[in-house]
Amino acid sequence: MDKNARNDLSVGAEDKASMNAVLDEALVNDISEVLFSQPQIEERVAALGAQISQDYAGKEPLLVGVLRGVFIFMADLVRQITIPIEVDFISISRYGPSRRTQGVVRFTKDLETSIQGRHVLFVEDVIDTGLSLRYILRSLQTREPASLRVCTLFNKPRTRLFELNPAYTGFDLPDRFVVGYGLDYDERYRNLPFVGVLKDGAITEQRLPDVP
Ligand code: IMP
Ligand code: MG
Repeated sequence: MDKNARNDLSVGAEDKASMNAVLDEALVNDISEVLFSQPQIEERVAALGAQISQDYAGKEPLLVGVLRGVFIFMADLVRQITIPIEVDFISISRYGPSRRTQGVVRFTKDLETSIQGRHVLFVEDVIDTGLSLRYILRSLQTREPASLRVCTLFNKPRTRLFELNPAYTGFDLPDRFVVGYGLDYDERYRNLPFVGVLKDGAITEQRLPDVP
């Protein structure tokens, strides 16, 4: 595509003024700050894809994503991977009174693919407490993959309750609730092309969502 045409289509997320010019106010009014712009994310995802292509050459890895938050990252990441791969998804629900308390995790959609003997790369949007991921990894490990590693776009190392070290991390995040690029609050904001912080007033403890 012509480079200029592409620029016309992409949202200028460099400052709030240009965001507001393009995106509906109902979508951006609750955002206090853009943490990662669309070009910043693109560049980092390209670097992750290049590294994964190099590390998994000859292994035809299976990338497993957890719905729904990961769908945009997964779509962009796989197009930056230059070796043969396969993709599958799971879905989980987590019940608990708040995001900080240990809830019950269960699969609401399991893999379609057998992972026995496969090189599995688990792809996450954000690791917060690590509760969801710990549950998922334990379950996948019992199915005897040849290898099992984690790639997360965002990592909140300061809020971790369980030790988990992703092999690939896009960005470290402060302990703040962020939305956009697939990440939601109450199912909203997933379609923002950048990642931003929700204003404090937009979040109430009672409305904190179950994950993912
Ligand atoms: P964990 O089990 O506490 O690690 O939670 C991970 C899940 O919580 C992610 O897959 C997201 O669905 C959700 N989550 C955690 N932090 C955020 C955030 O800042 N914004 C949106 N979703 C988040
Ligand atoms: Mg969520």
